[in-house]
Amino acid sequence: MKVILVMAMTVDGMIAKSGDHFPDWTGKGDKRLFMEISKKAGAVIMGSKTYDTLKKPLPDRKTVVLTRNRQRISSDPRVVFSPLCPANLLKELAKEGYKEAILAGGATVNTLFAAAGLIDEMVLTVSPLVFGTGISLFAGEVDMSVELVEHQRLEGGLLCLRYRILSPDAAA
Ligand SMILES: NC(=O)c1ccc[n+]([C@@H]2O[C@H](COP(=O)([O-])OP(=O)(O)OC[C@H]3O[C@@H](n4cnc5c(N)ncnc54)[C@H](OP(=O)(O)O)[C@@H]3O)[C@@H](O)[C@H]2O)c1
Repeated sequence: MKVILVMAMTVDGMIAKSGDHFPDWTGKGDKRLFMEISKKAGAVIMGSKTYDTLKKPLPDRKTVVLTRNRQRISSDPRVVFSPLCPANLLKELAKEGYKEAILAGGATVNTLFAAAGLIDEMVLTVSPLVFGTGISLFAGEVDMSVELVEHQRLEGGLLCLRYRILSPDAAA
């Protein structure tokens, strides 16, 4: 199972100003790219805080929302709330036939996967913005070496960077 972290960030590496910041600043090019990559994979994994910032579930994709709250139950068949750890979740998705999963944030859940050495690629869209403060890509200590494999200018002054993770074993 290949895991691709797909995130929009500012020039100073922020993914949001706060935990409830609606992602309306990331630009059309980023939204189009996210839709394309995530539809190809078919499965999207995100933390409960990220899910709660979305106004509606993502169409045409399975969305797995990581939460420790076992009371959360989805009324939408495309959305599953899961208490599983990253490794077990990926095993379940593989059993269901998925070959790729998109890791869609936020920082807390990104860090769980990085700490478990389970991120294979990162696709980062850099917006021409600076927040100065906020939530960064990861929420704890991570130690990864990466290799830039592709870079592309997108509409609206966005820069898309695709990295391969060379050493997935991050510091715990
Ligand atoms: N720029 C972008 O591309 C982008 C993408 C995604 C998100 N974001 C932003 O990121 C922000 C949210 O990031 P975040 O880091 O605060 O939250 P998050 O990673 O989305 O979700 C964190 C939540 O996941 C749940 N969780 C499940 N398993 C856990 C575990 N083992 N350990 C810890 N928590 C676990 C916890 O909530 P429970 O109480 O439910 O267990 C925790 O509060 C939002 O502002 C969102 O807009 C930006």
